[in-house]
Amino acid sequence: ANGQLADVRGRPLRDLRISVTDRCNFRCNYCMPKEIFDTNYPYLPHSALLSFEEITRLTRQFVAHGVQKIRLTGGEPLLRKNLERLIDQLASLRTPEGAPLDITLTTNGALLARKAQALKAAGLQRITVSLDALDDAVFRRMNEVDFPVADVLAGIDAAQAAGLGPIKINMVVKRGSNEQQILPMAKHFRGSGLVLRFIEYMDVGATNGWRMDEVLPSAEVLRLIQSELPLVQLEPNQAGETAERWGYADALGRHDPALGEIGLISSVTKAFCGDCNRARLSTEGQLYLCLFAEKGYDLRQLLRGEASDADLAHAIGHIWQGRQDNYSEQRQMQAPDTGTRTKRIEMSYIGG
Ligand code: GTP
Ligand code: 5AD
Ligand code: SF4
Ligand code: SF4
Repeated sequence: ANGQLADVRGRPLRDLRISVTDRCNFRCNYCMPKEIFDTNYPYLPHSALLSFEEITRLTRQFVAHGVQKIRLTGGEPLLRKNLERLIDQLASLRTPEGAPLDITLTTNGALLARKAQALKAAGLQRITVSLDALDDAVFRRMNEVDFPVADVLAGIDAAQAAGLGPIKINMVVKRGSNEQQILPMAKHFRGSGLVLRFIEYMDVGATNGWRMDEVLPSAEVLRLIQSELPLVQLEPNQAGETAERWGYADALGRHDPALGEIGLISSVTKAFCGDCNRARLSTEGQLYLCLFAEKGYDLRQLLRGEASDADLAHAIGHIWQGRQDNYSEQRQMQAPDTGTRTKRIEMSYIGG
């Protein structure tokens, strides 16, 4: 392993997203619709979950192949018991060049006020919080468990106070549900030092009943914000980024860094598969090469078998070299609402 690994389309492996639980305390309709994720839903039994030692051992092999960034996801990752212990283990890993990893986490924020300090102390560097509305009634309707928005805002404050920055806020925009919250959210976070990202509602999973007419294209989000708050486009930070960056402009039309920036994640209308460098590891140790993949590769079986570290690294390299996935690009070439695959993993199983 030497970090020069590339897939069939020449894309390197840089970002590993690790799902630590398939459970969540919210029931966002676009992700875990209540009717399906009820008490009868077959969540993974504890014995199926990778242990923290197994995750760390696997991650070390991914790092040998070029991974520099780790994102912990779920379900809701803060539901996993003693998550700080995993973060502590991952924080001790080093890239072949000797650098620590960029370790971050995506959370719905419900438990953040309680946990922010301990997460930071364990070695978590940054955090992304999902927040679909500022208005309490709209927020409660979106999370479907009547969770109050004030508690998430308190979690964001706690994360900021703990130094878990720069914090990103993810808002999934669903036409007919929360588009009236776009401007209030933009105004609220303008000048706060947080980056607010608007995500196009995606046809991920097979249970959310996705329809193209519920997608509000990012171009419309942009137009809406620009109508009140002038923006200028910013250069990408890194190749393969999910979000297009826009900065708030001053009176002369120049980006004012003090006002901050927003991001547009446009997987539906402007696919970004071209340099997608993300691999996803499920809670039970299946490796997925795309958010829309039909099947994963069972690394747990190797882990719990006789495989040496070298065997694991070899397997990961081999799998990545065979990777062709570019689902969003393909979807874009088809007519809307047609031909999307039906057998797909759920977002709650693999994380964002
Ligand atoms: P940063 O490095 O902090 O900018 O994070 P990120 O943008 O890589 O990760 P994040 O988990 O915040 O991604 C935000 C959202 O973008 C996710 O919740 C997904 O909805 C979407 N997303 C992330 N990665 C992909 C991807 O590879 N493909 C598609 N189609 N959507 C993605
Ligand atoms: N479309 C877009 N983003 C989604 N997420 C979950 N389901 C969807 C979907 N259907 C994202 C949310 C959340 C993260 C965990 O996954 O942004 O922040
Ligand atoms: Fe839970 Fe996040 Fe899915 Fe909402 S989007 S149900 S908070 S995992
Ligand atoms: Fe990467 Fe698949 Fe998303 Fe394209 S659709 S950006 S290949 S995860």
